[in-house]
Amino acid sequence: MRKPIIAGNWKMFKTRDEALQFIYAVNEKVPSIKEVDSVICAPFTVLRCLAKRQGENLRIGAQNMHYADNGAFTGEVSADMLTCVNVEYVIIGHSERRAMFNETDEAINKKLHTAFAKDLKPILCVGEELSQRESGKTETVIGNQLKLDLAGLSSEDVANLVIAYEPIWAIGTGKTATAEMANETCGFIRQTVASLYSKEVADKLRIQYGGSVKPANIKELMAQEHIDGALIGGASLIPDDFLFMVKAAVK
Ligand code: PGA
Repeated sequence: MRKPIIAGNWKMFKTRDEALQFIYAVNEKVPSIKEVDSVICAPFTVLRCLAKRQGENLRIGAQNMHYADNGAFTGEVSADMLTCVNVEYVIIGHSERRAMFNETDEAINKKLHTAFAKDLKPILCVGEELSQRESGKTETVIGNQLKLDLAGLSSEDVANLVIAYEPIWAIGTGKTATAEMANETCGFIRQTVASLYSKEVADKLRIQYGGSVKPANIKELMAQEHIDGALIGGASLIPDDFLFMVKAAVK
């Protein structure tokens, strides 16, 4: 049995006051961490403020980090800088970072190695563009991302990894992949991990779907065999919607 995991990805939204309003609205209402992992991945500037106030059932994540321990990397943040303010999760390789900030699979692979070495829990994002899906290349694209992104990681690391399948054409567009389509690709991800590692590792791996997830479609998505959770952008900004979706994920 894989524990469901719902993660909000706030992207570049919420000032300190707005983040505080959100956490006070949800903190006491989040279901038990024994039943579902509830995570908020917030901008760097509010991570400490959220982590200081997180209730026992909520966890805080960052949306990116650098792979180096420290150095002359203007504007970047290291794993130690995250863990020292009680950040537990980190999103790695979101498609917006791949597309707009030139993040390569090589850098993503290094970030995953660093995250595990520093006891952060990474959420690795993979996904295809619309033209790639339409030309039947979804599995080739995602298979390739997995091979490059996971290179050199141990079975133990991959068993503890969360992978978010996010079709790029469904992010922020209101277009969700159908639950069957999402399940099929999440199943492909599990099968690929089984062939790169083992069935045992693949059975432990938690796979989220992401892309226009909202209260109206969360239940149908969560009912799918290979979908263990969701990575949620827009709808995670609204406290009641976030709460509805974490509650809907409880089995
Ligand atoms: P969305 O974003 O839910 O707003 O589509 C998902 C994501 O980018 O993680």
